[in-house]
Amino acid sequence: MRTQPEQLEAELARVMRLFVEHERSLDEAPVRPPGLSALAASFREDALAEEGIGVSDALTEFLARIAPGLSNTGLRDFGLVIGGSTPAAQIGDLLATLWDQCVILHDHDSIAPVVEDQTSLLLLDLFRLPRAGFTGTFTTGASASNLVALACARQWWGRRHDVDVAERGLSSLPAVEIYSAAPHSSTSKALAELGLGRAGLLRVDTLPGRAVISPDALDRALRASQSKGKIVVAGTGEVNTGDFDDLGRVAAICREHDAWLHVDAAFGLFARCAPTYEFLAAGVELADSITCDLHKLLNVPYDSGFVALAARHRGLFEEVFSAVAPYLGARASGAAAIHPMNRRVENSSRFRALPAWLTLKAYGQNGYRGFVERICSHAKAMGAWIAASDDYALLAEPVFNIVLFCGRSAHGAPIDRIEDNMALVRCVCEPGKVFMTPTVYQGRPALRMAFAKWQTTMKDVGIAQDALREGMRQYRKR
Ligand SMILES: Cc1ncc(COP(=O)(O)O)c(C=O)c1O
Repeated sequence: MRTQPEQLEAELARVMRLFVEHERSLDEAPVRPPGLSALAASFREDALAEEGIGVSDALTEFLARIAPGLSNTGLRDFGLVIGGSTPAAQIGDLLATLWDQCVILHDHDSIAPVVEDQTSLLLLDLFRLPRAGFTGTFTTGASASNLVALACARQWWGRRHDVDVAERGLSSLPAVEIYSAAPHSSTSKALAELGLGRAGLLRVDTLPGRAVISPDALDRALRASQSKGKIVVAGTGEVNTGDFDDLGRVAAICREHDAWLHVDAAFGLFARCAPTYEFLAAGVELADSITCDLHKLLNVPYDSGFVALAARHRGLFEEVFSAVAPYLGARASGAAAIHPMNRRVENSSRFRALPAWLTLKAYGQNGYRGFVERICSHAKAMGAWIAASDDYALLAEPVFNIVLFCGRSAHGAPIDRIEDNMALVRCVCEPGKVFMTPTVYQGRPALRMAFAKWQTTMKDVGIAQDALREGMRQYRKR
């Protein structure tokens, strides 16, 4: 039965009204839904009904049963690194859903793959990366980008041993050596997925008191290695401190020792958008592969990531990811433009580039420069407030968008028990004004706040400071 345009119009109009109301309520609505555990525990579905209830009633049921359990991520959710969504990106995402393109092959049935390729170039422009120097692909997020990049690195490494890993597998090869100092957990996850093993990750020392690679330690480790070809995973934006590896030095060391340099720049790549911060990510242009998350500071809706591969490795995309089948046509290789399905995990994928294209067109370089400058100024303001506070202690100077700190007991000593830190986080977050996550840094419990949303203002920073002050009061009253 075909969709009736009038019914679609009525339901979409209803959704749009709800959505606008949701946006209006951002300031006041709790960041995390009250009673979340009870809501989650009570959300159970009986067996699927023989007869459906229709779109309108299903939407009504969504409003009654699901919407009250959803979080309000627009302004003061400082957990993980959760971006917001610009209106342009939201509209792009909606259009991508409504048009529902299958992005798989060039010259298949739509212009979408070309738009995707051109949007990749716009992203390279945004990040001040040379268009001729990189080729990119969209993914579902930074974890998927790390997977794609490390799969290409594995193929490159196999070639160093005269083995085509994509064809022959790993069985005839020695263990691959992957060096990193403070990798995000998704790096180990990618190694597990790729058959390289979490234990393949060799930890390099960090610089004293920081969560970044010690270039001297890396140099020593690579010099001592007997392996033909090695892989180094560096980072821009360590997850606890937001700190950046010295990519210029790391890249020089990798070049000297024949190592593939992958940079997990999930959110740190955005430093390149803003003159104040671009020095932090200087040298990323020397990488063999770069991960970026678009649902972080690009502020497009989940799920959206990007991976850029140095143009000299372009062929690796197809070596690893091509899927050949008669029903797809004779399209696996040799095309001037690499087919979308031959450069990432999925064959079919949604028109993920459209929200990115709309937001890049809508705000341009200057728009993103402003977003990044503002986001980081909020982190700096929060860091300064914490440094001056009697209740909290700053654990690392915020270099970009993350603030790492710990609570102090009434006597001024740092709170050093995990359970106490958890209790403090609960006291801060329970009233619903803000959300932030606990962590452990250099063995001690801590709190972290990640700034990533284009709409957050200094007023929100003030609300967060009030929540921290009041949270500490409640914590000490327990
Ligand atoms: C440095 C880094 N890499 C990878 C990831 C994983 O990103 P995602 O959860 O979007 O896959 C994150 C998430 O915060 C990150 O900060």
